[in-house]
Amino acid sequence: MHFRRQSVMNALIQEQKKRIASGEEINCYIDFLLSEGKTTLTEKQIGMLVWETIIEASDTTMITTEWAMYELAKNPKCQDRLYHEIQNVCGAEKIKEEHLPQLPYLNAVFHETIRKYSPAPVIPLRYAHEDTQIGGYYIPAGSEIAVNIYGCNMDKKLWENPEEWKPERFLDGKYDSMDLHKTMAFGAGKRSCAGALQAVLDSIYHDWQSSTRI
Ligand code: HEM
Repeated sequence: MHFRRQSVMNALIQEQKKRIASGEEINCYIDFLLSEGKTTLTEKQIGMLVWETIIEASDTTMITTEWAMYELAKNPKCQDRLYHEIQNVCGAEKIKEEHLPQLPYLNAVFHETIRKYSPAPVIPLRYAHEDTQIGGYYIPAGSEIAVNIYGCNMDKKLWENPEEWKPERFLDGKYDSMDLHKTMAFGAGKRSCAGALQAVLDSIYHDWQSSTRI
């Protein structure tokens, strides 16, 4: 996997190097990394940084959007409700960030999708540096802990009919605002998702652009 990842990243980076060599420089992340590569970053580090961006930023939002579109296509009533909500608020205009607070159903579709289809079903491992007690479990120093958020989000004790995709569970009055954190789709603690806000915006924009094409 490591070899394939490095090969794909090298190919992508080579294309960008060719662009830069042809004199076409852009003020963007890869150009910054390559200019740092001359002094502080190794080729391997640049490869990992580019991969990280693809996996953490693009892959997650794309997967979320695809599952949302899949569920909307299977649930015409939800699709109509979302379509009308967007039409009422935005009309022929493109959806803008300031519209988002007026689009509770779109928000509910997003949260329900990351609950049922979290793109990171098991969050990155945590390492216990010292003996710890958590949630009634004793965790000896040196253990690695994998939190299965998919399992938590399918837990019948925490969610009503968890296997059902039902955005309504995230509508006003039907949920506690802490439920938005209950999915833990962005992980938790100091290393939680650095792009959570960006992700909400990206996925919602994609949903909208795709929903106009259904
Ligand atoms: C639906 C979309 C997304 C989901 C569900 C998601 C989920 C996650 C999860 C579960 C983690 C691990 C958190 C932990 O270990 O506690 C993570 C880390 C991270 N995410 Fe996201 N993510 C999404 C989108 C994005 C976007 C759009 C960006 C960038 C703009 C991003 C950047 C990052 C970064 C940089 C980290 C590593 C943070 C660190 O290690 O300190 N993510 N994400």
